[in-house]
Amino acid sequence: MNLILRVLIFHCFISILYAHFGPKYSPEPFYSLPNTVNNPNVPLDIDCALRAFAIEMANYIAPPPFKSNWTSLVESAIQFNQCHNTSRTHPHLQPSSPPTKSNQQLCNNSFYVHHSKGNDFFDGSFQYPFQTIQTALDHVRLQRQINPRLTQNTSCIIIRGGTYYLGTNASTTTSQKGVIALTSNDSNLIIKNYEDERVILSGGTLLDLKWSFHSKASTGGNIMKAEIPLWVNVDEFNELYIDDQRAIVAKYPNGDPSTQGLYADHPGFSYDSQGWLSPIRRSSVEIHVQEPYRNGTFFPYHQFGIGGGASVFDPPRNFWSTWSPPAGGNYGVPSGLVVKNGALPNLPKWSNPSTGFVHAFHSGYWGSWVFDIESVNSSQNTIVFGKGGFQEARGSDQGGPFYVSNIFEELDSPNEWFLDQTSRTLYFMPNDTMPNVFVASQVPCLISLGGSDINDPVENVLIQGLTFTQTSNTYMKEYMAPSGGDWSVHRGGTIYMRNTKQISIVQNVFTELGSNGIAIIDYNEQNSITWNEFAWLADSGVIVVGTTNGIDGYSVNSQPTNILIESNLFRETGIYMKQSSPVLIAVSRSIQVVGNVMFNMPRAGVNINDGYYGNHSISRNVIFNSVRETSDHGPINTWDRQPYLTDAVQPNVPSLWQHVTYIDHNVLFNNYRSVWPIDHDDGSCIYEDSYNFQVYGGKKNYLGHSKTDHHEIYVYSDLSTGGFGSNNCLNNYAPQRGVSAWNENWIENTCILYSRTSPYNLENCDVSDLYIPYVASNKIYIPPGSREIFYCKVNGTMMELNLQQWQSYGIDKGTVVNDAPDVNTIIDWGRKMLQG
Ligand SMILES: *[C@@H]1O[C@H](CO)[C@@H](O)[C@H](O)[C@H]1NC(C)=O
Ligand SMILES: *[C@@H]1O[C@H](CO)[C@@H](O)[C@H](O)[C@H]1NC(C)=O
Ligand SMILES: *[C@@H]1O[C@H](CO)[C@@H](O)[C@H](O)[C@H]1NC(C)=O
Ligand SMILES: *[C@@H]1O[C@H](CO)[C@@H](O)[C@H](O)[C@H]1NC(C)=O
Ligand SMILES: *[C@@H]1O[C@H](CO)[C@@H](O)[C@H](O)[C@H]1NC(C)=O
Ligand SMILES: *[C@@H]1O[C@H](CO)[C@@H](O)[C@H](O)[C@H]1NC(C)=O
Ligand SMILES: *[C@@H]1O[C@H](CO)[C@@H](O)[C@H](O)[C@H]1NC(C)=O
Ligand SMILES: *[C@@H]1O[C@H](CO)[C@@H](O)[C@H](O)[C@H]1NC(C)=O
Ligand SMILES: *[C@@H]1O[C@H](CO)[C@@H](O)[C@H](O)[C@H]1NC(C)=O
Ligand SMILES: *[C@@H]1O[C@H](CO)[C@@H](O)[C@H](O)[C@H]1NC(C)=O
Ligand SMILES: *[C@@H]1O[C@H](CO)[C@@H](O)[C@H](O)[C@H]1NC(C)=O
Repeated sequence: MNLILRVLIFHCFISILYAHFGPKYSPEPFYSLPNTVNNPNVPLDIDCALRAFAIEMANYIAPPPFKSNWTSLVESAIQFNQCHNTSRTHPHLQPSSPPTKSNQQLCNNSFYVHHSKGNDFFDGSFQYPFQTIQTALDHVRLQRQINPRLTQNTSCIIIRGGTYYLGTNASTTTSQKGVIALTSNDSNLIIKNYEDERVILSGGTLLDLKWSFHSKASTGGNIMKAEIPLWVNVDEFNELYIDDQRAIVAKYPNGDPSTQGLYADHPGFSYDSQGWLSPIRRSSVEIHVQEPYRNGTFFPYHQFGIGGGASVFDPPRNFWSTWSPPAGGNYGVPSGLVVKNGALPNLPKWSNPSTGFVHAFHSGYWGSWVFDIESVNSSQNTIVFGKGGFQEARGSDQGGPFYVSNIFEELDSPNEWFLDQTSRTLYFMPNDTMPNVFVASQVPCLISLGGSDINDPVENVLIQGLTFTQTSNTYMKEYMAPSGGDWSVHRGGTIYMRNTKQISIVQNVFTELGSNGIAIIDYNEQNSITWNEFAWLADSGVIVVGTTNGIDGYSVNSQPTNILIESNLFRETGIYMKQSSPVLIAVSRSIQVVGNVMFNMPRAGVNINDGYYGNHSISRNVIFNSVRETSDHGPINTWDRQPYLTDAVQPNVPSLWQHVTYIDHNVLFNNYRSVWPIDHDDGSCIYEDSYNFQVYGGKKNYLGHSKTDHHEIYVYSDLSTGGFGSNNCLNNYAPQRGVSAWNENWIENTCILYSRTSPYNLENCDVSDLYIPYVASNKIYIPPGSREIFYCKVNGTMMELNLQQWQSYGIDKGTVVNDAPDVNTIIDWGRKMLQG
């Protein structure tokens, strides 16, 4: 195909895109979208019956010891109290402490650690424990050096209850090396709590401060100040945890990012931008792989840009940094912000704006950015950005709602703090009485497991029964654009793994963290993350991210493989990073996400960033309250804009096609701004979706192919609250022969419509030239007394067909249309399907 023709066709697709998703490209007013758990389109009793079923299913999938906890948490998060007509509150729950099983019998050698009774000169026995985990590890290593045969035996570090401030005088501050840094020499190791004692590993240091009065805030409160000891690393002191909760970095508008976001009545974001300074565009070196390419797809080529505008990423590479990436625009972010007059009332008073950050949503609400402030001109109401904006990979010329943080003059509200790094002075405004325990973050990563390479992995390590908390934030550290999805990702976490095998992370609590919970990067095999709780995280829960050599993901074994993420509880993730999710899968093989409960996050619960390899299973999860602050997403989101060579189809034979990925038996509650329960976005292909109970939203196919949807239950799929789209059971967007929407199947599904009567939105439907998914044997339910409508062109005119007329064209065989039953009958179908 010649270039001009290709460009013409490309423009044609872009206009199709605009037709459907026009709002994506300009800032959307968000005020009209729901900020609530409940679906305003449906009576409360129906909504409550469905909410009760989500609670029941969370209880059903919960591991036995957690049943009552998971149930009460979900009951609270889904605001079931509303259903009893009592007052509504935003849940802010304390993490539960999971009971731990005793597996000391596995230990050949055990060393004990006790933070207050221990001493590093003791022998590490139960009676004479060490004081620090590091000393216990030194002894394991020493013992193995003396007697190498012991390397094969399992050594245990058993930690007694108490708080261990691993951030104190820590020698590492990267996100990839923990205070406890295990290498392949540390294989066959267990690090766990003693019996059911509560062991807290803090990434901070406990501050013993002498407070004095500094000044009266303009708003009336007292600003207190204290000097920070010299041994505290002020560069990593970017989070302050007070009485075990994240305190608020002085900000405007006021509001606690942990409990206030776009979902809240008082979001703590300003909508008063006047305009955004243009991106500074720099050309990247464009890599377009012409051969091999994926025939018959909208996204046939592997392509990306290096350097130039992509230099803000590490490595300096981004799918979106080409001049005209498919279905998008060249990456760039605003270089500054102009606010409306008076929108930042303290702006003229800012004495040192360069300490500040601007947190801003992407104009399409696809994520958020953070920028350093380089300079301000208060007479021009202008803030010029320095570094930043790389926390999302697509970019946009404009931002959305924003807030400014870490500026001294904005310290005017209870629980806000500001650190003057130069004078080492901490300022804090208490509510009335001073709180007790102040912890300064010092490190982002507590435990790392890093083999030197693929052939020298850390193997067979169990980490169990620990609480990880109070780490530094990492949103200004290095971010990578891992593949063709929208995501960029900070490849670091509280637990970091690279070159590992058979690592188990079991029954831990990850709470009040500045970064991701667990980062599984590059080669890792057969690891499992089970029975953990993740809550109040600044970024994502578990990130699983591999790399390739460009299109070659076949001969490079640097991808996570066979990772099990099972029976975990994820909630309140993405406190700062709005493009984040409880689970991110990028460039990985065979990831299983099973039996997890996920709620209260800004974007999807599970995001699959690309079509690399496939063979993932997303099964038996209960996901609700997702997409609380962003747009154009759902509880599960997928993309596939970039082909890779792997041997997914046939062992030892590289091909550009992937293995099937399975999404089944999930309860997906499409509330807040979720549009599609399973958002198979740009180019997603080769999925089998089945037996999912999907509330308030329909099926989405967009620019992809080869997806099968069967035995699904779609409940009131016409009632999505996400603002646009998904008013039907099945939505087939922008089908193009030879390019997308081929081999799509929608069979044996049950779909109940609440008020509409048209089950399908099949674009370009024309009976004389049918190019639609294979539809058959479905059960469609419409409001009693109404008549079903199938829209399709007949003799060139769009017609409203009844079932019989529709089927007369030889399509949708075996499909029946009936009156919708009551919600309890529908729930009963779900119960039989999911609990049978
Ligand atoms: C979790 O369950 C335990 C035991 O039933 C209970 O003591 C604890 O309060 C629960 N925690 C929450 C947050 O519900
Ligand atoms: C709660 O009850 C009051 C009084 O009975 C009623 O007016 C109100 O509509 C109810 N609210 C909901 C959400 O049902
Ligand atoms: C190491 O393990 C082997 C077999 O598992 C056992 O026989 C041996 O006693 C262990 N050595 C020590 C020092 O525990
Ligand atoms: C050492 O560990 C192995 C494997 O867990 C176990 O079979 C063996 O009994 C242990 N040996 C001792 C002496 O504890
Ligand atoms: C950190 O190290 C410094 C210098 O060695 C020491 O003075 C200080 O007491 C240490 N801090 C803590 C909390 O141990
Ligand atoms: C592992 O142990 C071997 C043998 O004691 C030593 O040579 C090597 O440096 C150690 N590797 C690391 C990463 O500590
Ligand atoms: C692409 O696929 C179509 C349909 O399968 C086929 O007709 C065409 O020849 C293929 N083109 C190439 C270049 O392989
Ligand atoms: C702010 O902008 C005004 C008008 O362009 C200009 O005169 C002034 O010098 C600027 N101030 C600073 C601090 O750059
Ligand atoms: C301050 O105290 C008031 C009254 O006790 C309480 O309602 C409010 O939530 C507190 N604010 C903060 C930020 O703790
Ligand atoms: C697919 O994933 C499963 C685990 O869910 C694994 O056992 C199987 O080997 C994988 N198959 C392929 C072809 O990778
Ligand atoms: C379409 O055209 C054909 C042939 O002209 C005619 O028989 C048929 O009735 C028309 N169908 C409709 C729905 O108008």
